Amino acid sequence: MNSFQFYLKTEVVFGAGALAQTAALTKKHGGSKVLVVYGGGSCKRSGVLDTVTQALQEQGIAYRLFGGARPNPRLDHARKGVKEALDFGADLILAIGGGSSIDTAKAIAVGAAAPDTDIWLFWLRKAVPQKSLPVGVVLTIPAAGSETSDSAVLTDEQTMTKRGLSTDLNRPAFAVLDPTLAATLPNYQVSCGVTDILMHTLDRYFNPVSDNEISDAMAEALLRVVLKNGTKVCADPADTHAMSEIMWCGSLSHNGLTGLGGQKDFAVHQLGHALSARYDVAHGASLSAVWGAWALAVADADGYARFARFGRNVWGIAEPDDKTAALKAIDRQVAYFESLQMPTSLPQLQVGSVDVQELAELCSYGKTRSIGSFKVLDHEKILAVYAAANQEK
Ligand code: NZQ
Ligand code: ZN
Repeated sequence: MNSFQFYLKTEVVFGAGALAQTAALTKKHGGSKVLVVYGGGSCKRSGVLDTVTQALQEQGIAYRLFGGARPNPRLDHARKGVKEALDFGADLILAIGGGSSIDTAKAIAVGAAAPDTDIWLFWLRKAVPQKSLPVGVVLTIPAAGSETSDSAVLTDEQTMTKRGLSTDLNRPAFAVLDPTLAATLPNYQVSCGVTDILMHTLDRYFNPVSDNEISDAMAEALLRVVLKNGTKVCADPADTHAMSEIMWCGSLSHNGLTGLGGQKDFAVHQLGHALSARYDVAHGASLSAVWGAWALAVADADGYARFARFGRNVWGIAEPDDKTAALKAIDRQVAYFESLQMPTSLPQLQVGSVDVQELAELCSYGKTRSIGSFKVLDHEKILAVYAAANQEK
């Protein structure tokens, strides 16, 4: 097990009815002037926004609305949010929604605390954020895990760049996790969310550190629970028990816990970010579309041992030979994504013909970086994965 540092400050309030605690939590965490950040309007249609703003009013908390965060949230929109927050004198940013609203809120919180620095410099690693306003979250879709994660992902449309910024400043002050709020989700978004939750643990589990008993055991348990309940919520987002399991797994999967003591890999996320930046595909779809090709490209890194373990402990594959067990596990995982109606190849993304050369350039930052740790992928290997994923199935 490698050494690690783990700091998780987010106060989580979980369960059906938790929404009612939002205003009290806002007050507790210092919110007296709150910028309420949301997306394209699902929280208006569901009534969640009205419930929250009414409760804020009742607690005497001033608020200003800032909607319009799009999936794969845009840098320009976050910059506008920083101006709104400063103009209003916001002391807390409250996100209602999923990763896109939450990441926009995190960016606004970092930007409003450093008004003289353009926020993108933080994402480009040209400046280091020193402080941030507190962020509160009302989660309406289990997926990105941003409600407890240290990360925020933005897209600069002009340069087709999608970048994440990881800092403990990004950890929300509080998160309201009310599984009943996810009942209004379209099935496709549920499937994308379940895929992303699985991937946050898979992208940690496949790493070169093999003597990491507790984190690996937690990762395997989480994967089993998500696989079981993922099928249920994709069939019925109003299944409150299954959605509760999925929502909590979503937070656990990306707060760092399932990879502590390991070495972050996250190659699949990096492959997916280039796809989303270039073709604006949903995050979950960008991951399932490349996972199978990635897995086949890296499974031999340790003589198939890790993937065989995944097959036995997560998929119950009783095959004694490591290579056979590993390949069966990859098949089972890809078939699972297919069962959720997720794309498992680039053509299935239905974005027209995909330029794999361009994707490899974007993903390798113009051939200046490699990705992954389980098996390190340089530009050439990244290109090979995209090319394999681009085969018709
Ligand atoms: O925008 P609205 O109208 O709210 O609609 C959203 C959006 O269209 C809809 N939705 C959300 N809750 C709903 C609902 N529709 C009906 N009923 C509800 N209860 O779902 C759609 C997707 O929302 P979005 O916030 O984009 O989803 P998600 O949570 O998957 O977030 C994706 C973004 O998060 C980033 C992704 O890259 C992507 O940009 N990620 C953030 C991470 C982090 N900060 O730690 C880690 C992840 O790996 C990921 O990269
Ligand atoms: Zn993700």
